[in-house]
Amino acid sequence: MCGIVGYTGHKDAGKVIISGLKRLEYRGYDSAGIAVKNEGSIYLQKKKGRIDQLDETEVPKYDAGIGHTRWATHGKPSDENAHPFLDCDENIALVHNGIIDNFNSIKDELLDKGHEFTSETDSEVIVHLIEENYHGDILEAFKKTIEFIEGSYAVALIHKDSNELIVARNESPLVIGVGSGENFVASDVPALLDHTKDVKYLLDGDIARVTRNEIEIWDEKDELVERETKRIDWDVEDAEKSGYEHYMLKEIFEQPKAIHESILGRLTSFDDVDLLKYDIDSVQFIACGTSSHAGYVGRYIFENLAEIPCTVEVSSEYRYTSPSDSTPFTILFSQSGETLDTIAAAREARKRGCNTLAVTNVMDSSITREVDEVVYTQAGPEIGVAATKTFTTQVIILYLLAIELGLKKGVLSRDKAEEYKDELRRLPRKVERILDDMDKIKDITERLSESRDIFFVGRNINYPVALEGALKLKEIAYIHAAGYPAGELKHGPFALLTEDTPVIALAVKDHTFQKMLGNIGEIAARNSPVIVVGDEDREIKKLADDFYFIPETTPIFSPLLVNVVLQLIAYYTAYRLDRDIDKPRNLAKSVTVE
Ligand code: G6P
Repeated sequence: MCGIVGYTGHKDAGKVIISGLKRLEYRGYDSAGIAVKNEGSIYLQKKKGRIDQLDETEVPKYDAGIGHTRWATHGKPSDENAHPFLDCDENIALVHNGIIDNFNSIKDELLDKGHEFTSETDSEVIVHLIEENYHGDILEAFKKTIEFIEGSYAVALIHKDSNELIVARNESPLVIGVGSGENFVASDVPALLDHTKDVKYLLDGDIARVTRNEIEIWDEKDELVERETKRIDWDVEDAEKSGYEHYMLKEIFEQPKAIHESILGRLTSFDDVDLLKYDIDSVQFIACGTSSHAGYVGRYIFENLAEIPCTVEVSSEYRYTSPSDSTPFTILFSQSGETLDTIAAAREARKRGCNTLAVTNVMDSSITREVDEVVYTQAGPEIGVAATKTFTTQVIILYLLAIELGLKKGVLSRDKAEEYKDELRRLPRKVERILDDMDKIKDITERLSESRDIFFVGRNINYPVALEGALKLKEIAYIHAAGYPAGELKHGPFALLTEDTPVIALAVKDHTFQKMLGNIGEIAARNSPVIVVGDEDREIKKLADDFYFIPETTPIFSPLLVNVVLQLIAYYTAYRLDRDIDKPRNLAKSVTVE
């Protein structure tokens, strides 16, 4: 949801900023822009569309500047609404990620004072308000301005007479990259990895002045503070395509490694969090998008392995439900740790007296400050907008947590726990076997790419996988798809079944298998093509038009394997349709608005 990059140092700022923005394009790609300090003035270039629209050769070589890639909220995607914004006298350039709630009233006042606006955005008010407050000291003007601004922001600005960057954060991520004779700011770490692995995460309310040799940070009370420098263990290659045509395919293929890293050291003792501290007799899972599907899978895992009743809520709904007396242990999933609705849900859960745990992939992300406990998935950076390996690792964390809880509650025997752990160790190899079959899976997608509607059906723990499979297809192939519990099709969607409406049925040999066979028979009788993904079975070979059998596993682990097949199905369907797989239209990877 918008990406910001800033640079000050001895290199060509334009080059550093544009290459950094490319690493943040997953945050939005409606428009892009750059402002660099030129000889006594500010050079500005901004365009509707992707970062490639910017002409790097036109950017004068200079040593400080800022850049932005936008996901439109206020004002449609256009050259005018692209960031950076300049004040009336073109002394200051500013980029913003977030939403200024009170921009209308500020804008009215500024218009009365004669300021001229060039865009429909909320962001532009900030730079004009700074201009209004500027009396020779840009930092002071900025601090004063921030006092009047309500909402969320990560902001970076430059003044034409100085090489320093002034930055601030409140509820939108911002990280400072620490270099030698140069420093950086960015919305996320991948933008920095070419230059440094040492970073300082700003906290809400922080304002910083960044020069090439110095970083000064003031907290919300305007006190000068130190923020610890942390070392990132991601490599540049982690944030690059490494020969794959798309990030999404690379990330699908990284899953064996991601599973391995997520269980590493956690099977002998899972000490990320001391669950014994909490009295956990019920659990609620809260998240958005793909992360919410991890929660739905989690419900089955927890109820099975730890015998704990669970509910699942979508973050944007949970926030507005009526509080009750119950205080379930609350587990929030967010790959980015920045999804605004999930952060707000974490606050709300705490307010209602629940103990909270966040499962996230991004170190020190905003959600980590809103919860009692944090567990990190070890998936590495995920750039493709459609989540793949992070979902898989979220589910892995759920197995680990449930086994731990089951043991502590005495409802899971040691032997059974060891059996499950052994299967967790075997999962990377099983995922690899599916990936080796990618050509077979690609063949299945031939008929799908010609369809207008596709249904996904599953039962029990694979019902949420049907939801996730449908979501993936919608996101990247732009084909209408819906996930259903297999038994529900006949309560409505059957009316839509025709020979042009394929149904992907997830059939795993658990206690619902026979029922699933019955459902597949019913669908086939309506002449809809049926594609089965699940356990090998003679009956299925007879009934289905196409099938893919996953490597043998205990049913409770089947969602992970089935889901990898569905990821590849979505990928190759989108590929056949020549979609923009890593950057699907209208979407962004982390959604920091309500
Ligand atoms: C966006 C992304 C999805 C993601 C969802 C939740 O919609 O496009 O891929 O699942 O946000 O993101 P989070 O970072 O909270 O897991």
